[in-house]
Amino acid sequence: MTQSNQPFSRIIGTGAYLPARVLSNADLEKMVDTTDEWIFTRTGIRERRIAAEQESTCDLAEHAAREAMANAGITAQDLDLILVATTTPDLVFPSTACLLQARLGNQGAPAFDIQAVCTGFVYALDVADKFIRTGAARRALVIGAETMSRIVDWQDRSTCVLFGDGAGAVVLEAGDAPGILSTHIHADGRYSDLLAVPAGISCNSARFKAGEAYLTMKGNPVFRMAVKTLGEIVDETLSANRMGRGDIDWLVPHQANIRIIQATADKLGMSMDKVVVTVDHHGNTSGASIPLALHSAVRDGRIRSGETVLMEAFGGGFTWGSVLLKWA
Ligand code: COA
Repeated sequence: MTQSNQPFSRIIGTGAYLPARVLSNADLEKMVDTTDEWIFTRTGIRERRIAAEQESTCDLAEHAAREAMANAGITAQDLDLILVATTTPDLVFPSTACLLQARLGNQGAPAFDIQAVCTGFVYALDVADKFIRTGAARRALVIGAETMSRIVDWQDRSTCVLFGDGAGAVVLEAGDAPGILSTHIHADGRYSDLLAVPAGISCNSARFKAGEAYLTMKGNPVFRMAVKTLGEIVDETLSANRMGRGDIDWLVPHQANIRIIQATADKLGMSMDKVVVTVDHHGNTSGASIPLALHSAVRDGRIRSGETVLMEAFGGGFTWGSVLLKWA
């Protein structure tokens, strides 16, 4: 127990799901004026997955959630918190978390969505960690799930090459030892013109209803802000834990762009073989990207018990944040 007698939260199971359809850079060459070479050198992306027409964010979330629960050895009735980080919910309401709760067969646990775009999973881990530390929950299911393909303008080459669909999930449980060491989340709402879907329920709703609510982005300033801000969150996280750059065993970054990931690795003095990179095969899946990457490194045995893992993300809002944990 900590001095204040509060439990820690630790991840006891992970899961992930990618839709079956692969959209390669070569496929995109046939859709917009682009090349595999341009996409790969600027972003590190080779291919992304696209949800089938009838496949929703909740469908992707359910696959990832069931795998995480199976790996954790728990059932839905064991959960007392369900959080879904998503920017692309199934419906205006009920929340995707409530839709998922019904499918999993849990009744009574609080369930809600978290909207912090690409930082959504980090925000959701922060919230779940606080539920567990205060004793309000013992077991939490935290999911990042997105169907970004539904808000991408497939005629806009500057954005459509970047995004993909997917879901990742973790189960958190209260325990006497870390677990999560610290979480850090921030936002600065002044930059909404740089990265947004500028249509919705109560603003530009005609465009929303016409199915033309598309993602818009000024790539260059977003890139610069992401690199600067992620450098700062690394410093904040290390300093809060009185750690140095050499104390991090694994970096599990938001998977938006390999050049942004490399900049953070450089900041930490880490070689790229200690950085979990999955952006090449699923592109930017927004809130799903960190749990997708985490699951891949846990499943193949790279991340081991006792190792220190830093997760960080930056996204629309702007929002940004980090989670530092000791792998249990
Ligand atoms: N294929 C070919 N050319 C393209 C292209 C594409 N898919 N998209 C844009 N271009 C062109 C531009 O039109 C521009 O042409 P011009 O010089 O004739 O005007 C040129 O490539 C350079 O564009 P620019 O936007 O300056 O490129 P960049 O080096 O900044 O790379 C991004 C663009 C989007 C890859 C980069 O800005 C980026 O990764 N930004 C951050 C995006 C991100 O991660 N967002 C999510 C944050 S969570």
